[in-house]
Amino acid sequence: MFDINHQLELSKRRTFAIISHPDAGKTTVTEKMLLLGKVIRTSGTIKARGNGKYAKSDWMNIEKQRGISVTTSVMQFTYKNILMNLLDTPGHEDFSEDTYRILTAVDCCLLVIDAAKGIEDRTKKLMNVSRLHNTPIITFINKLDRDSREAIEILDEIEKELNLSCIPITWPISCGKNFKGVYHIYDKMFCLYKKNVIKKVNFFDSNSLTDFFNEFSLKEHIGTDLYIQWHEELKLVTHVYPEFSKKKFLEGDVTPVFFGSALSNFGINHVLESLIKWAPSPVYRCTNIRKVEPEEKKFTGFIFKIQANMDLKHRDRMAFMRIVSGQYRKGIKLRHVRIKKDIIVSDAFSFLAGDRFSIENAYPGDVIGIHNHGTIKIGDTFTEGEEIKFLGIPSFAPEVFRRIFLKNPLQQKKLKKGLFQLSEEGAIQIFCPITNNSLILGAIGILQFDVVIERLKVEYQIDAMYETVNIALARWIRSKKEKSISDFLNKNKSCLALDGSNQLIYLAPNKANLDIIKNIYKNIFFDKTREQ
Ligand code: G4P
Repeated sequence: MFDINHQLELSKRRTFAIISHPDAGKTTVTEKMLLLGKVIRTSGTIKARGNGKYAKSDWMNIEKQRGISVTTSVMQFTYKNILMNLLDTPGHEDFSEDTYRILTAVDCCLLVIDAAKGIEDRTKKLMNVSRLHNTPIITFINKLDRDSREAIEILDEIEKELNLSCIPITWPISCGKNFKGVYHIYDKMFCLYKKNVIKKVNFFDSNSLTDFFNEFSLKEHIGTDLYIQWHEELKLVTHVYPEFSKKKFLEGDVTPVFFGSALSNFGINHVLESLIKWAPSPVYRCTNIRKVEPEEKKFTGFIFKIQANMDLKHRDRMAFMRIVSGQYRKGIKLRHVRIKKDIIVSDAFSFLAGDRFSIENAYPGDVIGIHNHGTIKIGDTFTEGEEIKFLGIPSFAPEVFRRIFLKNPLQQKKLKKGLFQLSEEGAIQIFCPITNNSLILGAIGILQFDVVIERLKVEYQIDAMYETVNIALARWIRSKKEKSISDFLNKNKSCLALDGSNQLIYLAPNKANLDIIKNIYKNIFFDKTREQ
């Protein structure tokens, strides 16, 4: 059962995503990681906004027009012999349900915060999703080269807003024009900041004569006032914050915190080291029957994303699978559990943003892409024969809504077909109200509505339009008692619809309405997520 090679492959892997509010620096952090991983050689390869050059991840037209990252890309790089799977998440205001679902496919998250802004709206939403699974979080406080808020104030905010205890691992020495670097509290080492130059010096370490940095020269370097201030702060920090505990981190209770400036590639190495040292190697996943451990020999995996048009020439759809156990080998026979069919996977891909590479082998924690000829849906399980279904890859209640209608009403059937197919990719959801024939679309970010209109036009030759609709929230309806559901249905028909899987959903005009309804119907569950 125990296979030493398999074990070695597991111990070499880390699978993580970056959580941040738009503009906090996710793309820049990603780019510096790829630089340190030697995947790219110069900055600007990943992002090139507004200058006519496009980033590797910008392969959709709409993405190019707006210069933002609409789709989620997967990047693999090696740092100090550890294979990092970084699942990138759309970071603009307009993002999609994919962003949420990505967080169900990783084992760890890197939270990037702008030091001048602190916790912002999008961060909170994403963190709520990642907290559903108690995913371990590493925090990087970015842009210290700019004027920032007090470090302690930011940590307080994280603790209060995200309900997550902070353990600073590095501590900044001032910020903005005065930013001198960080002190690594655990390594007892200074990393002195000079734009794009990183100099590491051990503090009072007489063993390392070349790096020897005594109190005098440190004072000279950062100035006496800053030295005294830093010294006072450090005393306070080491007094106030408890010792870092890997166990508590893995349980999702505490987050190690690092400071730096992604733009100057300062502090990113600390984050990578922490991923190596503390982030979990691939972890188990639950199914409807049992837990599946990554050490198991037989292959299992689940689909968390479907991406269309990755290669416009071929109009293909790619299903992204997170491997949970076993090993992918080219030509492997897999059971597609939902449709009860065996398939031979003769070609699977790994990705670097828009580029794809055919692969021979892959292990737990890796994400592989397989061709989808319309039979694969988000949430599908693949095994080497076992009839199980992975749980925890849900649909999330949409946050914005539109009614869609046709310029040419004769195309209604075609429109429905197109919308159902697009909704299977998981970026939008379609709802059919039970009292009329209209079609409502729901999404997590409004950009998805533009993407749908564009794709209906290009892929289905349908001209459609939107009108606003008085819906603010959606909740799936569930009850242990049949009768409660039918009572509820009879009295609230005008707000009820069926989703793409024929599940009842309540579409509330506002939060007050939802609160009142919840209060009246105590036997009904109003779910924010639904298992696929
Ligand atoms: P995002 O993916 O989270 O949306 O953020 P992104 O990395 O695109 O960064 C947003 C802006 O913040 C960019 O500037 C980027 O250069 C800047 N930035 C990122 N990290 C740092 C940092 O450590 N220090 C400073 N001073 N700036 C940082 P931009 O002007 O919007 O874009 P660009 O013209 O630089 O590409």
